[in-house]
Amino acid sequence: MTIAIRAAVPADRAFIETLGKRTVMSSVSARRHPQPETVLANYERLLEIVDTRAHVALVGELAGERAGFILVVDSMPDEVTGDDQAFVAYMAVERAARGKGVGRALLAAAEDEARKRGVPYMALMVTEENAAARSLYERSGYATERRLMCKTL
Ligand SMILES: CC(C)(COP(=O)(O)OP(=O)(O)OC[C@H]1O[C@@H](n2cnc3c(N)ncnc32)[C@H](O)[C@@H]1OP(=O)(O)O)[C@@H](O)C(=O)NCCC(=O)NCCS
Repeated sequence: MTIAIRAAVPADRAFIETLGKRTVMSSVSARRHPQPETVLANYERLLEIVDTRAHVALVGELAGERAGFILVVDSMPDEVTGDDQAFVAYMAVERAARGKGVGRALLAAAEDEARKRGVPYMALMVTEENAAARSLYERSGYATERRLMCKTL
């Protein structure tokens, strides 16, 4: 099936919001036990934050149907080195469309956009338990750079 990646348009907003809300629980680490409504509210807040910053929003289509999206904040310097880097705020693919290369194509297209602007790095955060996302990132060339550690008190 043909995969097409294009820039998101205002008419994609509801798709990005609903697919994000249907999938965002997969980004909750096993250590945390939030109320689902809090996670959903935080996802809405994330969309608002992305809107206020320079960003790239891409939609992936499979056989002409919206199948996934990626949101990348344009400039989020590394906090230690100050290196300019693009940062994946969130991405998701519809369950029925997974395993067909849409996620990989979205990520590659977002990297191309960043490269065009001379951004030297792309970074992201992913939970240990999110095997699908970790596999996508590792197979796309991402390596663990630091560990975000947490202890339940
Ligand atoms: C993570 C996600 C975006 C992957 O999208 P996808 O379209 O299914 O990914 P692709 O088909 O492009 O697969 C990309 C690579 O990851 C691997 N992969 C994908 N899903 C996998 C899984 N469940 N288990 C193991 N490997 C997997 C594929 O083998 C593929 O590697 P290859 O290209 O070398 O063969 C999708 O599972 C998703 O939307 N998950 C819920 C939301 C989420 O977790 N977002 C990430 C937040 S950090």
